[in-house]
Amino acid sequence: MDLALLRRLTTGEGWGLLQSLPPYEPGSELRLQQRLRDAGFEPDLVAAALHQSQLRARAVAKFGPFAQGMVFTADGLEQATRLEVAAQHAQRFRAAGVHTVHDLGCGIGADAMAMAGIDLRVRAIDADEVTAAIAAVNLRHWPDCSASQGLVEEFTPPAGEGARHVGAWLDPARRTPGVADITGRTRRLFRLDAISPSWETVQAVARALPATGAKLSPAFPHAALPPGAEAQWVSYDGEVLECAVWWGPLVRTAGRTAAVLGTGRGPTVVAEEQAEEHPPTVASLGDLGPWLYEPDRALLRAGLVGAVTAATGGRELDAGVGYVSAGRSEDLPFARRYAVVEAMPFNVKALRGWLRDRGIDRLTIKKRGVSLDADALRKQLRLPPKGRTEATVVITRVRSQQVVLAVQGA
Ligand SMILES: C[S@@+](CC[C@H](N)C(=O)[O-])C[C@H]1O[C@@H](n2cnc3c(N)ncnc32)[C@H](O)[C@@H]1O
Repeated sequence: MDLALLRRLTTGEGWGLLQSLPPYEPGSELRLQQRLRDAGFEPDLVAAALHQSQLRARAVAKFGPFAQGMVFTADGLEQATRLEVAAQHAQRFRAAGVHTVHDLGCGIGADAMAMAGIDLRVRAIDADEVTAAIAAVNLRHWPDCSASQGLVEEFTPPAGEGARHVGAWLDPARRTPGVADITGRTRRLFRLDAISPSWETVQAVARALPATGAKLSPAFPHAALPPGAEAQWVSYDGEVLECAVWWGPLVRTAGRTAAVLGTGRGPTVVAEEQAEEHPPTVASLGDLGPWLYEPDRALLRAGLVGAVTAATGGRELDAGVGYVSAGRSEDLPFARRYAVVEAMPFNVKALRGWLRDRGIDRLTIKKRGVSLDADALRKQLRLPPKGRTEATVVITRVRSQQVVLAVQGA
């Protein structure tokens, strides 16, 4: 969509058309397209409106009902921060007494909207003029906020008195093209030297405006964390979405932290000081406790498994595998707990016998710290395609030995 078409779509007749569309239904586009053309709407406007309708339907997962008032590009939607996480970013700025945020590389403006929504004044720029214009449309309810085309590299941070209560937010785009994984989903690659604006530019902004935050990939390397800053890995419903780096007054706890969010639950934050630095490991398979804990992935990325060993008095199964065995049963908002039913050295024949003896013919296989093809294993175990009696097994390591634990969710 070019700028002229965006303007037509988001004003007058075009906006009326877009807002009057019925809820998007896959497969009905052609009929609807014809009906709208017959009603006299220009074909390019109809196509643009229908595309927006499709994007809005997709955007509900990130923005709920707000999606219906927003405009997107497909790329901009994919890169946009989901509402609940954007709200957390915005809160950081407000809690630190910031009143104006320069959103440098604003995309379609999801973070900017969350900031505007809690009365922060947003000055947003994006390198791409259509994307910036879309952000401006999405910010239309907040006359004090603006979005325009501009390059971060040309941004002049305010200085002296003008910099008081002013912060910056950066959410660099990943320049490395995605690769499709076996499920066909695009997986983005991450290298600190392959983001735009560059990591150097992000840090230069943070030097000029101490109240700076940046959203980076969950693959952000621990060693790259600038002294005094906070790197917070954030998960939502178990998926790690980002590592946000915070500087200056936006730092809550310097070092590595993890924030666990999910549907209907606010963040639980875990910091390094709650975690054992070198989590103890179990001595042998016979040494396992009755409970197994699987830390949330945000903790795994943040290297904070030691928070689970500390909270449960437990030990990691092997250095770096992430699973924790413990004698105590604790309800932790940042780890899943399982009861261990059986623990044995990993051996396909023995596992097959164990499953057969118990009539188990459906298996959930979890694995960590071992290289193993779960589908190939399923075949080796000769499980029927559609079994009825289900079990969960965890295949991992204890003292470098491959082990299998049969577990039950608790
Ligand atoms: C990940 S998106 C931002 C998403 C946004 N935070 C949101 O929640 O909607 C990154 C944006 O940065 C913009 N960008 C990349 N390099 C830039 C640069 N050097 N100057 C300005 N914008 C840039 C891209 O055009 C893209 O729209």
